[in-house]
Amino acid sequence: MADINVKKYIDGTVFKAIASVAQFEKIETYVIGGYVRDIYLDKPSKDIDIVVLGSGIEMAEKVAKKLGGVKVSVFRNYGTAMFKYRDVEVEFVGARKESYQRESRNPIVEDGTLEDDQNRRDFTINALALSLNKDNYGELVDPFNGMEDLENGIIRTPLDPEITFSDDPLRMLRAIRFATRFGFKIEENTFAGIKNNVERIDIISKERIVDELNKMIMADKPSMGFKLLDITGLLVKILPEFAAMKGVDEVNGKRHKDNFYHTLEVLDRIVPNTDDVWLRWSAIFHDIAKPATKRFDKKLGWTFHAHNHIGQKMVPQIFKRMKFPMNDKMKFVQKMVFLHMRPIVLSEDIVSDSAVRRLLFDAGDDIESLMTLCEADITSKNEEKVKRYMRNFKVVRRKLKEIEEKDKVRNFQPPVSGEDIMEAFDITPCREIGDIKTAIKDAILDGDIENNFEQAYELMKVKGQELGLTLKKN
Ligand code: CTP
Repeated sequence: MADINVKKYIDGTVFKAIASVAQFEKIETYVIGGYVRDIYLDKPSKDIDIVVLGSGIEMAEKVAKKLGGVKVSVFRNYGTAMFKYRDVEVEFVGARKESYQRESRNPIVEDGTLEDDQNRRDFTINALALSLNKDNYGELVDPFNGMEDLENGIIRTPLDPEITFSDDPLRMLRAIRFATRFGFKIEENTFAGIKNNVERIDIISKERIVDELNKMIMADKPSMGFKLLDITGLLVKILPEFAAMKGVDEVNGKRHKDNFYHTLEVLDRIVPNTDDVWLRWSAIFHDIAKPATKRFDKKLGWTFHAHNHIGQKMVPQIFKRMKFPMNDKMKFVQKMVFLHMRPIVLSEDIVSDSAVRRLLFDAGDDIESLMTLCEADITSKNEEKVKRYMRNFKVVRRKLKEIEEKDKVRNFQPPVSGEDIMEAFDITPCREIGDIKTAIKDAILDGDIENNFEQAYELMKVKGQELGLTLKKN
């Protein structure tokens, strides 16, 4: 790792411009943080953080000018400036010493040395800096053995973890996110520091928490992150509904499965099949109402009656509290939670056309996502059982395709409209119109009539007359 050819990553137009300004102005300049870490992990990133022993804002403006006058955004309050050049984002900051106020994340900032600046960073692997100065261009400045930690896969704070986490409690989530993303271990004292500062997460805005969680669940094995959130005590503070899924009860020798670990398995299983963060959230929430609906019945054993229905109702409450978007993404997650058992039930029975038609009608364009969720939901240890389900899912998928081609119910539009009905019976808006439309929809979904105007119109006439309506004479 240490012998990686670093220079090729700090050789582009942007770096050349920075180095030339640094040399001309005689200001020491370094690239620092995630960009350097990712070079050694061989995952080059597009976010470049530059620290200068002087004014970050002035440096940004001079470099931007050298690059042909790119637009600079200046954040005077923070003493930072950034610009975009082609596909990279470059942020400049003056090296600083920071001390934080207890009840806020906003630090009191003072000018500092490079080492002061590295000190105030979150983890040793994020405190690595590379010199952009002529005399030692590309030299690694690593006062906390960040390179060793990177090689050994360790997340460790440069300072006493109590200080690092208390200064900025979001870092507790960042530690877990990096551990999850890179498959690293959190060093013992750092881990204890998280445990001790769990309460401090309260001063962090929901938006920033969600941002971290979203990055975490986009990892290859997000279950690791949730297990860490759980054992540190953060989960119960952030997502108490999810923490409540933990545990197994036993009555009369009968136990139910631990729904927390089951959910984590579903989440890991869905990862290779989707990059949609909302479908991954749907995996997390699909059984969220199991604790609330859990009952023990002498005959049936453990039941979670209507957990999909209650779960669907819990989704907006959780979204609101977490400041997730209350829009079609939320509706999508609700739909997944509500429908998550339907394909499974279907695959247990003989797959009837009408059941498939109803599923297509209810899932609409999200049918693929729903099938992906259901396939991930089969976590049984019994291989035979898993194979049987997977076979049946294939049948369901084939039928879905056939029926959609034939009947087009996926984006169902009633073939006979309310206006057609009013016109035919010469009536004004009334309940009967809704009844007729429902009868037509049900007949199509049950396969009694085909999804076309002629057959629907015939049924409308019959239903209308049954309801006491009289056809208009032409
Ligand atoms: N940093 C920190 N504490 C934070 C956030 C950031 O110390 N709460 C420092 C770290 O040195 C980090 C750098 O600022 O490497 C840049 O932060 P950011 O761009 O948010 O994250 P990266 O580490 O670059 O990682 P990623 O882009 O994957 O989020």
